[in-house]
Amino acid sequence: MSTVLIIGAGGVGRVVAHKCAQQHETFSSICLASRTQSKCVQIANEIKEKTGRTIETAQVDADNVAELVALIQRVNPFMIINVALPYQDLTIMDACLETGTHYLDTANYEPLDEAKFEYSWQWAYRERFEQAGLMALLGSGFDPGVTNVFCAYMQKHHFDTLDYVDILDCNGGDHGYAFATNFNPEINIREVTSNGRYFENGQWIETAPMAIKKQFDFEQVGPKNMYLLYHEEMESLAINLKGVKRMRFWMTFGDAYLKHLEVFRNIGLDSIKPIMFEGREIIPIQFLKALLPDPASLGPRTVGKTNIGVIVKGTKDGKPVSRYIYNICDHQACYQETHAQGVSYTTGVPAMIGAMMMIQGHWMKPGVHNMEEFNPDPFMDALNAYGLPWSNIATDIDVDQLPE
Ligand SMILES: NC(=O)c1ccc[n+]([C@@H]2O[C@H](COP(=O)([O-])OP(=O)(O)OC[C@H]3O[C@@H](n4cnc5c(N)ncnc54)[C@H](OP(=O)(O)O)[C@@H]3O)[C@@H](O)[C@H]2O)c1
Repeated sequence: MSTVLIIGAGGVGRVVAHKCAQQHETFSSICLASRTQSKCVQIANEIKEKTGRTIETAQVDADNVAELVALIQRVNPFMIINVALPYQDLTIMDACLETGTHYLDTANYEPLDEAKFEYSWQWAYRERFEQAGLMALLGSGFDPGVTNVFCAYMQKHHFDTLDYVDILDCNGGDHGYAFATNFNPEINIREVTSNGRYFENGQWIETAPMAIKKQFDFEQVGPKNMYLLYHEEMESLAINLKGVKRMRFWMTFGDAYLKHLEVFRNIGLDSIKPIMFEGREIIPIQFLKALLPDPASLGPRTVGKTNIGVIVKGTKDGKPVSRYIYNICDHQACYQETHAQGVSYTTGVPAMIGAMMMIQGHWMKPGVHNMEEFNPDPFMDALNAYGLPWSNIATDIDVDQLPE
C-alpha cells in the first residue's frame, strides 16, 4: 500500500496512471503531475469513469528542483515514476535525494543541446542514492526495460553464455497520417537520426544512420525492413551480460517515414541548434514538433500490432542454443483499455510493473540500477498478468542470414 507520484501526462503517463489505478492494493494513492495540469485532469477524469477511483493531479515544472521538492513534500510518495522527458531525469533525481524518495524512469538522461544517449550522468548518482538508502530504477519501459529483463531471463534459465544478442523492435501500427511519431517527436527523431552503433568483441562499432538493413517476417505483423540503430539498453547490457560477443538493436521503419526524415534532415528541420526566426530564437526540431500530430492523439486512429523481442544465440551445457522471447501487442486493444496506442502502452505497463516490483520489495536495493540486475522472474510473471504476455520459443532464425 503506497503512494506514488507520476510526473508527465503524455501518452506514457496516461498508461501508467490507468494501470496504477487498476492496482489498488499496490498503489493506494496516486498523484499525477505535469507541466500542463489540464492534461492530468483529463486523464484523472477518464480513470474516474473507468475504475471509479479518484486520483490527485498537480502542476509542476520538473526542470525546477525547488518546485519538485515542494510537491514531493506535500504528496509524500514512496516513489516517483518519471515519465516526463529525458531532460528532466537529473532534476527529478536531485529532488528525490533531497526528500528521501525512490525513483524510476523509462529513458536515460539527455542534455537538451546534445543528442547523446548514455547512462554516465545517472550512474554518477550511484553513491548518493546508496548512501541515502534510496533506489533509482533506470529504463523501466519496453526498450529499454522489458528487453533487458528478457535478456536477464534467458541468462538465468536458458544459457550459460549469451554469445549473440539481437533486439528486434517492430511497430506494425498504422495511424493514417503521412508522418507522425509514436512518442515524443523530438526524442524520437533525435534517436533515429543519430549514428547507428553496435557492440562486438568488447568494442562499439559506429555506422551511418540507417546504413544496415535486414528484412524480417514478424509474427502477426508480416515482413518489414528493420534498420540497425543504437539503443540505450545495450550500454548496460554490454556490462551486465557476461561474455556477450555481439549485440545489435534493430527497429522497423516504412519507406514513407524514412523519406520524410531524409527531407527534414536535408533542410535542417531536425536540427537542435537554435536559429533566429522573425527576431526570436527557435529550435528547428521543436518547431517541427509543434507541426506534427501529438502522439497522445494517435490512440483512436492507430490499428495493427507491435512485436518486440530478443533473439539470443549461445550455449547451454556445452551445446549450441538459440531462443526468441517476444511480446505482441494490439494498438486498438491498448486504446480500449487506457485511451492510448500501443507504443505508449508497451512503455507504461513496464513502468507500472517496475514500481510494483519496488513497492512489493521484489526489487529493492539502494543505489542506481538497470533492469537486468534484478531477478527477472517476478517481472516476467507480472508482464503476463498485466497486459504484455510473452512467447518464449526455441528458434532457428539466424539474423545474419536474413535478406538485406
Ligand atoms: N523505454 C521505452 O520503451 C520508451 C518508449 C517510448 C517512450 N519512452 C519515454 O517515455 C517518456 C514519455 O514519453 P511520451 O511519449 O509520453 O512523451 P510526451 O507525450 O511528449 O509526454 C511528455 C510529458 O512530460 C511533460 N513534461 C515535459 N517537460 C516537463 C517539465 N519540465 N515539467 C513537467 N512535465 C513536463 C509534458 O508536459 P506538456 O504536456 O506540458 O508538454 C508531457 O505531459 C519519454 O521520456 C520517452 O523517452 C520510453
